[in-house]
Amino acid sequence: MMPFAKKTAVIMCLALMGTAKPIHPAGALSQRAQAEGSDATILVEPTMYQIYPFNKEYATNLPHVEIQRTGNTSLLENVAVFEGIPANARTCQLGWTQAERDERKNFTVHGNGLLSTQQLSRFPDEGVSWASIAPIVDEAVEEGWPLLHPDTTGWPAISTAESHIAGFVDCAETIYFKIHLDPRNGDGYVLLEQDPKNSLTLTFTLPTD
Ligand SMILES: *[C@@H]1O[C@H](CO)[C@@H](O)[C@H](O)[C@H]1NC(C)=O
Ligand SMILES: *[C@@H]1O[C@H](CO)[C@@H](O)[C@H](O)[C@H]1NC(C)=O
Repeated sequence: MMPFAKKTAVIMCLALMGTAKPIHPAGALSQRAQAEGSDATILVEPTMYQIYPFNKEYATNLPHVEIQRTGNTSLLENVAVFEGIPANARTCQLGWTQAERDERKNFTVHGNGLLSTQQLSRFPDEGVSWASIAPIVDEAVEEGWPLLHPDTTGWPAISTAESHIAGFVDCAETIYFKIHLDPRNGDGYVLLEQDPKNSLTLTFTLPTD
């Protein structure tokens, strides 16, 4: 159990990061929303795949984030795909958003909720599975593609709507991520059932001239 003061500090720090560049997914009516008072566009509900390190050829395609590490072993990982980003998009950022409690689907975090999101250059031709994605992940690590660490730890306890920025990624018309639980903070389980207000997010801006 994390000492209360430490947990609060982590949450406050993330809350500050989240408000540094406010986005307003509550206004999202569709897959794409224009943030109020900002020229940023927010994409929500990426296509999700669940992949299984112990069932390497198998994948599921449920619309939620679900990640598990038990006995210091990764059991369930995800691939997320955001599509339809304009070729001239700038300042692409990965984040995630949670609605106020009454408007949430199932958002559950047990233990460690620190995620590790590795941007990938491409998607496997043969379809996604742990086996087909592994060489593309290795290639992305070697080439130094952006690796971010959104932290969901403790956030289901917060009843207000919150938007979180994880950081910058390389803009592309389709942006792919491989997501697993970061082993540095031990075992954990994260479930975020997605809809337009509870989702991984990809924000970008377009040049004004
Ligand atoms: C858990 O696994 C990670 C990565 O494989 C390793 O670096 C770490 O030492 C392990 N931790 C424990 C407590 O075994
Ligand atoms: C949410 O998901 C967790 C993990 O799968 C499950 O144990 C729990 O019963 C679910 N809660 C609701 C309200 O569906």
